[in-house]
Amino acid sequence: MTTRIIGTGSCPGDHKVSNGDLAEIVETSHEWIFTRTGIQNRHLSTELGTSGMAARAAELACEDAKIKPEDLDLILLATSTPEYCFPNGACQVQEKLGAVNAAAFDISAACSGFVFALQTAGSFLASGTFRNILVIGADDLSKITDWSDRGTCVLFGDGAGAVVVQAEERGCFHGIMKADGRKAKVLLCPARSEGNFLTGKVPQMGYISMDGQEVFKFAVKKVPECINQLLSEQKTAKEEIRYYILHQANKRILEAVAKRLDEPVEKFPMNIGEYGNTSAASIPILLDEMNRQGKLKRGDKLVLAGFGGGLTWGAILLEW
Ligand code: ACO
Repeated sequence: MTTRIIGTGSCPGDHKVSNGDLAEIVETSHEWIFTRTGIQNRHLSTELGTSGMAARAAELACEDAKIKPEDLDLILLATSTPEYCFPNGACQVQEKLGAVNAAAFDISAACSGFVFALQTAGSFLASGTFRNILVIGADDLSKITDWSDRGTCVLFGDGAGAVVVQAEERGCFHGIMKADGRKAKVLLCPARSEGNFLTGKVPQMGYISMDGQEVFKFAVKKVPECINQLLSEQKTAKEEIRYYILHQANKRILEAVAKRLDEPVEKFPMNIGEYGNTSAASIPILLDEMNRQGKLKRGDKLVLAGFGGGLTWGAILLEW
């Protein structure tokens, strides 16, 4: 028994912000941002927030899959920006969709979140626990971005992407998930202060901080390693892979991964130029774009790979 994606949907933030727009609020330039990251625009959410974008992407994925929300058994939402400690964001999506028969919970693995959630869904399908699973990656990073820090604020965007998955007899679906908690500080966002009424600290959200060069080194080492391990375990040659759909962190990271894998960069589709880094949403947004543009054909072998805070990283080999 394997896992198949039967529908996709996406919802970027509603407000497009160019590099030039950012140059009006921090000391930066289009040239600096574009040459180092490949980013030209990002779409920020002014209204919907994490659960609203997630619900819209989910609605479109259900339509594409020709499945009614009431037929969903499980909703998994990968996010680092839930609106509440509880209820979880997946329950908010369940309510907005009217997916009354679905269990719902969130998965937190930063930019690896979608890859981790999709593997979790695959295990539930393989065990026969659930039949129709909605997997969403959604992040509203603009709310945890320090807009006075030019080192981070130029990188991120908001958005959501979703897929519906079902079990299927043929095809393939295999994954790897990894973590290294010792490297937490490389990419970090505190949830709230550690205070209580005794210490007098006021609970508050923190902002994203990052050691950019360490992130770069981590990604270009671990992602190819992980993909090579996955392909060798599954006895799959690189020539069989139609596309590598990677977390859209940075154009230079994707190019470096392609080079290390000795694969043409054309096999690494990118939309970072338009959306920036949307964390858990970047892979399903890209999948949805490619699906709607007719670029994915039944039987195509794809590798998805995520990497991010934790540190966490992982990859999936699947057949479209
Ligand atoms: N505009 C203009 N100048 C800037 C900006 C900016 N937006 N940001 C930083 N600078 C300046 C710095 O202040 C520094 O100036 P100084 O030399 O006078 O001190 C100079 O540019 C160089 O700064 P670095 O941080 O060393 O720049 P670097 O060349 O490493 O590029 C970048 C930074 C693009 C973040 C790079 O490290 C990188 O690509 N890292 C990968 C990290 C990444 O992509 N993270 C995404 C999120 S994590 C994830 O999704 C997994």
